[in-house]
Amino acid sequence: MSILPNISNWKYSKFIKNNKYFFKRKYVLKIVSPKILKKAYKVVSSWKGYSPTPLISLTKLNNNLNLNNIFYKDESKRFHLKSFKALGGAFAVEQIASKQKNIIISSATAGNHGRSVAWGAQRLGLNCKIFVSENVSNSRVKEIKKFGAEVIRVKGNYEKSLNECKKLSKKNNWIIVQDVSTQNYKLIPALTMAGYSVMIKEISKQTNQYITHIFLQAGVGGMAAGVVAGVAKYFKRIPKIIIVEPDRADCVLKSIKNNKMTKIRIKKESIMGGMSCNEMSLLPWLILKKTANYCISISDTKVAKMIALLADKKLSNKSIIGGECSAPGIISLICACNEPKSKKALNLNEKSNVLLIGCEGNADTKLYKQLLSKGRKN
Ligand SMILES: Cc1ncc(COP(=O)(O)O)c(C=O)c1O
Repeated sequence: MSILPNISNWKYSKFIKNNKYFFKRKYVLKIVSPKILKKAYKVVSSWKGYSPTPLISLTKLNNNLNLNNIFYKDESKRFHLKSFKALGGAFAVEQIASKQKNIIISSATAGNHGRSVAWGAQRLGLNCKIFVSENVSNSRVKEIKKFGAEVIRVKGNYEKSLNECKKLSKKNNWIIVQDVSTQNYKLIPALTMAGYSVMIKEISKQTNQYITHIFLQAGVGGMAAGVVAGVAKYFKRIPKIIIVEPDRADCVLKSIKNNKMTKIRIKKESIMGGMSCNEMSLLPWLILKKTANYCISISDTKVAKMIALLADKKLSNKSIIGGECSAPGIISLICACNEPKSKKALNLNEKSNVLLIGCEGNADTKLYKQLLSKGRKN
C-alpha cells in the first residue's frame, strides 16, 4: 500500500560507485584505534544524563519502500545538545584536559561542534573561545553562549573563522579542539570521530537485526568516518556504506571519483549548513576512500518537505524532530529506491535493514520553524 505517493518521483543529483572500495577492519582501526573507541563509549556513557538515543523504525516509510527495516537513529535526543556532535567535541576536550591542566580551549565551528566543545569545557570548568563565521545564525551563537563560552564572530566564511582561531590560539597558547584533521593535526580529530562511534555501539545493543546498509551524511566526513570506525569495531557484518552530500557541496563524492582529496568551489551555500563543506578532513578521507561503497548527492529542494514528514508522523508512528542535516539521509534512500539502476546496484530489497542517522534536531530553532512551515505548505 502506498501511503506517500508524492515521493515516488524524487530524484538524486548524482550517484557514483567507489571503484577503490576495499573494507578491511584492520586498516580502519589503525586510523582510529580500538583503545580510543572503547574509551569513548566508557567515558561518554558515564556522563550525567547519558542515555542511548532512540532507534526508531520508520514503518510507514517502509510500507512504501518495501524493505525489511528502516532504522532511524534519533540524535535530536543527544543530551540536551540536539545533535550527534555532542559526542565528539566534548569527549576530545575531556581527553585533552586529562593530560594538561589549566588550559583554555578554542575552536572554530559552523554551530554544533562548537556547542559540544563549549559544553565539554564548561563541564570541566575550563575557559572556552569559539570562533564563528558570519554565516552562523544568531540562534546557534546563543546556544553556544549558554555553555559559558566566549563567541568571537569573524568576517567571511568558515575557513576565515578557522584561520582567526589558529592565529589567536597560537598567540595566546589556547588549545584548539577542531574536528578537521590535517597532516599535522590528527589526534584531536581522531578523538572526535571516536566519540561519534558511540552511536554504533548503542545500535549494536538496540537491535539484533544485521544492518545491511548505512546512509551517512557528510560535511568534511568526520561523522561518516567515525561511524565506519564504530562499524569496524562493533558490527559482526559489514554493511554497504553510502555517503550522502548536498550537490552544492559534494567534496566527498568528487574526492572518491578522482581518487584524491579534491577541493571544490561552493557557489551557493546549501540549506544543509553543517554539510556545506568544500574539502574533506584528512583522516576521514583515508577511511572513506576505502570503505564507502557509493556516494549520492541531492539538491536542497526536498529538505523542508522531509522535515515536515518527520514531524507529522508520515514516516513512523512517532513525531520526530529532524533538522536540515537529518533530512538528506532519508531523501537519498527514497531517491535510491526510486531509480532501478541504483536500487539494483545497492541491492536494496525486502531483506534490507537500512540504518539512517538523524544527525540533529532543531539545533537552529528559528531555521527549523521556517523549514517546517515551508514543508507543510508544499
Ligand atoms: C549537524 C551536522 N553538522 C555537520 C555534519 C557533517 O559532519 P562532518 O563534517 O563530520 O562530516 C552533519 C552530518 O553530516 C550534521 O548533521
